[in-house]
Amino acid sequence: MQNPSCLPGPGRQDGLFTLECQYAPFPFVLCIRAWSPSYERWSLVTSSPTLRSVQSGYKLVKVASGAHSVHSLAYRETFHPVIGPAAEAEALYVRQIRLLERLRAHQGEFVMWDVGLGAAANPLTVLRAVEGTRCREGSPSPRPSPPGEGEPPIQPPHVPGSSRREEAHSNLAGKDQSLLTSAATGPIRFVSFDQTIESLKFALKHARELEFVEGYESELEKLIQDGRISFKRGSQEVKWELHLADFPRLLGSDVAKDLPKPHVIMFDAFSPATNPAMWTLPLFTRLFSLLDPERPCVLPTYSRSTMLRVTLLLAGFFVGVGHATGEKEETTIAANRLDLVEEPLGRRWLQRVRRSTSAEPLREPVYRQAKLSEETWERLEGHGQWREVFT
Ligand SMILES: C[S@@+](CC[C@H](N)C(=O)[O-])C[C@H]1O[C@@H](n2cnc3c(N)ncnc32)[C@H](O)[C@@H]1O
Repeated sequence: MQNPSCLPGPGRQDGLFTLECQYAPFPFVLCIRAWSPSYERWSLVTSSPTLRSVQSGYKLVKVASGAHSVHSLAYRETFHPVIGPAAEAEALYVRQIRLLERLRAHQGEFVMWDVGLGAAANPLTVLRAVEGTRCREGSPSPRPSPPGEGEPPIQPPHVPGSSRREEAHSNLAGKDQSLLTSAATGPIRFVSFDQTIESLKFALKHARELEFVEGYESELEKLIQDGRISFKRGSQEVKWELHLADFPRLLGSDVAKDLPKPHVIMFDAFSPATNPAMWTLPLFTRLFSLLDPERPCVLPTYSRSTMLRVTLLLAGFFVGVGHATGEKEETTIAANRLDLVEEPLGRRWLQRVRRSTSAEPLREPVYRQAKLSEETWERLEGHGQWREVFT
């Protein structure tokens, strides 16, 4: 980003406003300053509210739920829109995959890849769930688990006059807390990936507003400084490492072969339209090839796009409808075993794919929309998922 450049306006001599423009690839930030002839200096009248954050590339936004989220100015995307970071992470990466149940049944290290660490809402929400606490922002998943299985849905009691946040928080004191306590028997190992650490630094500066960060500041600072950290929360052992690199490039390198094999992949890049490099078929094919076939692995992600689902299927995953998050009626879940997918895509979805105008996977890191080619259709039709689902 270049230094702000002051463009004196025509009104400089007579005290009228002038505009100061700060150049960055985007956004274009305006600052209105006034020239005071008597003091012979400029004073700031107003600026676009994002000015302070522009210098870091991020700003804080309040989403519809009332929670705060981080917004990337470069990508023009809010990390967790509508329901907020903790609520989205809890719906996608805790409840939907019955994480606590799985952790309780698991022996040894449990590996969670965190693709797109960003402000760390996903690993921190997992940790809070394991600890049996939630940040005040957290709201219940709108979609209950089937009766008798996994964690029961959290229905916040109605407390007249209290805010939704207070309700979610007060709920902690009840039965949820005992249900969520001491989930894991072995260490949890987070393997986080991002190309920048700036959003995490930004989140640390705004720990109070972001809430999910609060209480983890020293761990995050050490992670930033050393690239890895081990710590204990209660009886839970946590190992956390950060790979600061371009994810597609890292995945394609030999280093990727030595990464611990994941049980869960929290896939949270920006949207395909703005971040196409993170959603290509070569990337997911490589990701699938790096999995241990003997290690059941699930990959939930917020997108429900046909293009993504075709991509995941062609890469080798089994793919199903993912739980709603409150923002989206549907998300996507992929896995290397069909029994990990509660609601696999079936015949109706397959019929619709052929009509979709945006189904062909991206092969290059360039976004475009296209109908399925004949060749892709043939490959898709041959996927083992249909044999299992249709019989
Ligand atoms: C939606 S944000 C992730 C939000 C994050 N999971 C959180 O909880 O705050 C997407 C993240 O993907 C990262 N990202 C985008 N392209 C990437 C790339 N090519 N390699 C690695 N990380 C990338 C961005 O830097 C950003 O932090």
